[in-house]
Amino acid sequence: MGWDAITSQLTAILILDGMAALLQQDPPVYVCLCNGVTDRQVREAVDNGCGSVGELTMRTGCGANCGSCLEMAASMIAEMQAELPLPILACAA
Ligand code: FES
Repeated sequence: MGWDAITSQLTAILILDGMAALLQQDPPVYVCLCNGVTDRQVREAVDNGCGSVGELTMRTGCGANCGSCLEMAASMIAEMQAELPLPILACAA
């Protein structure tokens, strides 16, 4: 087997592996259709400290147009915050 054949097979394996990884992920769900904000972006914002719909709007644009997504965004933020570990107080450490 020549070098070209090996690299061709490796490339095919890497492409298939990448496609398999993509297929295993849940597809993104749009929370805000006006501004194209997905549940992944909301998750990322909450993971980075976003704690309110106002902050989410500032960071992502979610809710900045018609506002019909605000209720869903607020409940997602509340759910995601409930999943976060409790903060460790500096004086308790
Ligand atoms: S759906 Fe989010 S502002 Fe319209």
